[in-house]
Amino acid sequence: MEKIAFFDAKPYDREWFDKINKKHEIIYYECRLRPESARLADGCKAACAFVNDVINAKTIDALSEMGVKVLLMRCAGFNNISLDAAKGKLTILRVPAYSPYAVAEHAMGMILALNRKIPRAYIRTRDFNFSLVGLTGFDLHGKTAGVIGTGKIGQAFIDICKGFGMEILAYDPHPADINGVRYVETDELFRQSDIISLHCPLTRETRYIIDEGAINLMKKSALIVNTSRGQLIDSEALLSALNDKRIGGAALDVYEEESGLFFEDNSDKIVTDEVLSLLVSRPNVLITSHQAFLTEEALRSIAEVTLQNFDDYLEGKEPKNEVKAK
Ligand code: NAI
Repeated sequence: MEKIAFFDAKPYDREWFDKINKKHEIIYYECRLRPESARLADGCKAACAFVNDVINAKTIDALSEMGVKVLLMRCAGFNNISLDAAKGKLTILRVPAYSPYAVAEHAMGMILALNRKIPRAYIRTRDFNFSLVGLTGFDLHGKTAGVIGTGKIGQAFIDICKGFGMEILAYDPHPADINGVRYVETDELFRQSDIISLHCPLTRETRYIIDEGAINLMKKSALIVNTSRGQLIDSEALLSALNDKRIGGAALDVYEEESGLFFEDNSDKIVTDEVLSLLVSRPNVLITSHQAFLTEEALRSIAEVTLQNFDDYLEGKEPKNEVKAK
């Protein structure tokens, strides 16, 4: 039995890790992993972390000094880790896929909610306001979906769009052979799409893939949905386009400055992020708190793969889910 220091633990994490874990001692901490909290992993062979933990060189050195050998990421993304700093100090294992359907279904759910103004209608009818004024949407059938990134989630999203009778345009530097999908350059995708959905990782190339220039190519009615990573969109450019009615709306499950806000109840605090405050207040913006992954199937799979990664490491098996600096 080994000890795992589990950071940023939420009740839904505990529920599934406690169900699946049969071998190890998991010590749950509610605080995020960062340089100041890393010493809580003292005596643990592994630390388990999530998307907004601060895993820079200082955190990695502190974990290493505490005797931690493995960092178990219970997520797919690893843009919050300094991979160079981890070289020779920590083995980093992740969960490359848990439920692409969870994220793809949430993306379509957000589009339906935004386009058909379902959250606004819900709030109105709870107050017996049955007016339809301002709730007009558009049919998705026959419209064009632009999908950026056609990996596991992008392909699940494409299948859903096909079910709605949509045309599909896609951009990916590594195109897949997908029936009924036309790969185009980003400019054409931006010009022609009625909805644009982001399913690529955050990298140097994709940071701000949606910027002022991209938005200016889009239809004024276009809806953007981002369930990937916040920094794919320049939020100030998005806000400015919403203010000038250069874009139809945005559904955001992620936000570039989400760290420290998302996943937490901030309702008693004064949130000073003005861009977020303005985005939240717009009727044509829908924000969820990085919840696209949050289904029972995904949580089970995250717990299973995270713990299997650790067991494979302990048994000296070839690590299939290792992340390394290039
Ligand atoms: P994947 O690795 O299966 O697919 C990513 C695709 O993006 C690949 O086809 C790759 O070629 C493509 N890509 C790489 N660079 C690109 C570029 N410059 N432009 C366009 N496409 C590019 O990954 P998967 O599982 O489909 O996940 C996609 C993203 O979804 C993840 O990177 C993660 O950021 C996000 N995600 C969000 C979750 C949430 O709860 N909101 C949960 C899980 C993942």
